[in-house]
Amino acid sequence: MRFNFLAAAVVAATFSACFVQPLAAQTAEQLTFIPAGGRTLLTNIATSKPPADELKALLTGKRSRDEWSSYLTAHSQAVPALQSQSDKQRLTLADYLSFHMPLPANQVPANLTRTDWTRTLPKDGRDLALDNCQGCHIITVVVTQERTKKAWLGTMSTPAHAVIKMTPAERDELASYLVLNAGIPIEQVPEELRASGATY
Ligand code: HEC
Repeated sequence: MRFNFLAAAVVAATFSACFVQPLAAQTAEQLTFIPAGGRTLLTNIATSKPPADELKALLTGKRSRDEWSSYLTAHSQAVPALQSQSDKQRLTLADYLSFHMPLPANQVPANLTRTDWTRTLPKDGRDLALDNCQGCHIITVVVTQERTKKAWLGTMSTPAHAVIKMTPAERDELASYLVLNAGIPIEQVPEELRASGATY
């Protein structure tokens, strides 16, 4: 209940601010408080010079999230970049891999060392949130909420949200990312992204 109350306050403050001036575009730097999604986490691994066969195995395997999570733990000796990930990051990456791997054969780069990974890899949950959840209210409304997956899917099917052009698979992936990474305490949100009335 506490979270709903906070959300209502942030939404109300954001909407009233909208009439005065449009929401200023957020810079990438202001948004760094929102945790990296799987695309970024995988890019970091791909550019850490891992053994080519290990990298290829990440791009071409088919596993559930739990299977990927165990797989990543088991391969952290061979891929040292995995060792610096927190448990939450490993789960976020495992979740992403379960949605997007194996990559279609024609999307697996021929030369793994000279690839623009940011462009090659499919969007992650963070990308989906930034692309789809800032049009009507500030992103803070979304990322400060702690919800179950079912509750997130429910939020996304209310009348205000059902109209958003996202596929069911994208909604599922976004909900999964938010379960793991939303619920950010308001103190960690840059002040300019805390709508007045929701800061305390
Ligand atoms: C088309 C406009 C629009 C877009 C785009 C939009 N929202 Fe909203 N959102 C609203 C409106 C209107 C409200 C307040 C009324 C309500 O709660 O439905 C709201 C409120 C919320 C709330 C707080 C109220 C609640 O349900 O607890 C959350 C959380 C939320 N939105 C999540 C999202 C997410 C996640 C996305 C991206 C997938 C998103 N919104 C994109 C219109 C939008």
